[in-house]
Amino acid sequence: MKTAPPADLVDGILRLKEKRNAVILAHNYQLGEVQDVADFTGDSLALTQKAAASDAEVIVFCGVHFMAETAAILAPTKKVLIPDLEAGCSLAATVDVSQLRDWKARHPNAVVVAYVNTTAAVKAESDYCCTSSNAVQVVESVPPDKEILFIPDMYLGRYVREKTKRTIHLWPGSCHVHFRIHDEDIEAQKKAHPGAELLVHPECGCLTSALKHADFVASTSGMIRRAAESPAREFLVATETGILHAMRRQNPDKVFLPVAESAECSFMKKITLEKVLWSLEDMKHRVTVPTETAAKARRAIDRMMAAAAG
Ligand code: 13P
Ligand code: SF4
Repeated sequence: MKTAPPADLVDGILRLKEKRNAVILAHNYQLGEVQDVADFTGDSLALTQKAAASDAEVIVFCGVHFMAETAAILAPTKKVLIPDLEAGCSLAATVDVSQLRDWKARHPNAVVVAYVNTTAAVKAESDYCCTSSNAVQVVESVPPDKEILFIPDMYLGRYVREKTKRTIHLWPGSCHVHFRIHDEDIEAQKKAHPGAELLVHPECGCLTSALKHADFVASTSGMIRRAAESPAREFLVATETGILHAMRRQNPDKVFLPVAESAECSFMKKITLEKVLWSLEDMKHRVTVPTETAAKARRAIDRMMAAAAG
């Protein structure tokens, strides 16, 4: 059984949050106690929207660096803080600006659709942004005569290609956590729990096999919503294990089993309650995006928002 975090730590965070006029946003993969102290939890898209809509002066982003950058792009007048600068993303690190420029030069008539798991500089070189919750809609909104360069996640890209039947070239990137969720894990767990509903994140390396069995493929928030709405009592969850916290808290009468116990993102887990407190105490670490980069990245994000709304 887990022990509760020290009350004075939580009190300290809440007190400083008030004093700084701050809002705490936490991604669905964060440590349970960090999710519990947050004002809002969600997937990449939901947190981005919360950041943009918030009237707080300070945003403490409990997630990874590209997410804080996206918040800084959408909320340029606010101070965006990340409690640990080492909270990176192995997937975002698979493509940089010069690699993308080279690839574009080899496909001069294609448009670039960039998964939100990219740096602001890479987004600035892209035509459209997308998240796991709207990638299919975004690709469908691209003019039909255009080929698409999809960066950086090849599994999500392959899934979208399958769904939309568009000509999509895939960047060979993947997330080290989801890459390790193998076909064999899915097969074994399905055999052991034949009645369980299988919820899958589209970044999973097992996606080909998962799609054979999958009951539901969605973003982290989509998976959490489905867990609450589904009549099933038992679920197999194919994504990072931090998501189990919200699923179990919201549905105490249901059983949630990770497809791979080892699927833990060490970058997400860099953020601890102590670091959230220090972040508010010392107003660190501020995440900013140069104005020109932010303006270009924003075009790609705005196109995503328009596609998702339409
Ligand atoms: P979501 O947008 O579905 O929360 O995914 C973000 C992410 O980093 C998945 O690994
Ligand atoms: Fe990046 Fe993978 Fe961690 Fe998501 S789970 S933040 S894609 S490294």
